[in-house]
Amino acid sequence: MTAKIINGTEIAKNIRHSLKEKISLLKTPPVLAVILAGSDPASEIYVKNKEKACHEVGITARTHKFSANVSEKELLDLLNDLNRAPDINGILVQLPLPAHINSEKILQAVSPAKDVDGFHPLNIGMLQQKSPDTFIPCTPKGIICLLHSLSLNLTGLNAIVIGRSQIVGLPVSNLLLQENCTVTVTHSKTKKLSALCRSADILIAALGKPEFITKEYIKPGAIIIDVGINRTPNGLKGDVNFKDALETAAYVTPVPGGVGPMTIAMLLENTYEAFLKQNRP
Ligand code: GUN
Repeated sequence: MTAKIINGTEIAKNIRHSLKEKISLLKTPPVLAVILAGSDPASEIYVKNKEKACHEVGITARTHKFSANVSEKELLDLLNDLNRAPDINGILVQLPLPAHINSEKILQAVSPAKDVDGFHPLNIGMLQQKSPDTFIPCTPKGIICLLHSLSLNLTGLNAIVIGRSQIVGLPVSNLLLQENCTVTVTHSKTKKLSALCRSADILIAALGKPEFITKEYIKPGAIIIDVGINRTPNGLKGDVNFKDALETAAYVTPVPGGVGPMTIAMLLENTYEAFLKQNRP
């Protein structure tokens, strides 16, 4: 079997194109405030990519940069200002924050109405309740969008998620349940992982280990979604051995060009939605 490659770059491009058209009809552009603390090279690249993508669809991105020794109070004061500012529609705090900062405290200080990452506890709760008023975290939302692009009936499929992070594993599990999948969340302490994964019709790999998922983890004909972004001496690698997935699965996302561009497209979509919610007549 040669798996079909799910082209995240192309799907994200179409979403951005349609957003650009809708945004061009607005009287004022949506505004996204981005907070970047420290100089983690990966975070700097992500933020640059987010700024560029905003610019291309007509969203104004305003980045607030801080050195790694920024205090919690400085971040909380800025968030307080951004929460109150009527011209700011979305707020994104790039993670990870420097080790001395209490990330939970910072994420809880983002106004839920501007929380385009969907990391505030209120939005996490509303996601569980399937409330349409929540913001769905960008990577999980992008993964569901990729699955929908296949036009398959997901009901009753066995979905296995590797990784239980707040950013990907937990929210995507919730969303897969909402798609009527039977969901298993696995993690570093899970026993007999490869045998479990071999029962997965949908495998979401979000564990952060380059090319960890090999043939013996893949059910023939499965859908493989690779969330990994691992910088290795041999270049950027996903969590999945792409060659093995191509030979065994029915569908696979590449790295780069799979989930990554969708995360950014969903951030743009959430920012546009935040603007609409805040400007309801
Ligand atoms: N760091 C890694 N992924 C993300 C994300 O989706 N949002 C934010 N804010 N930081 C991240």
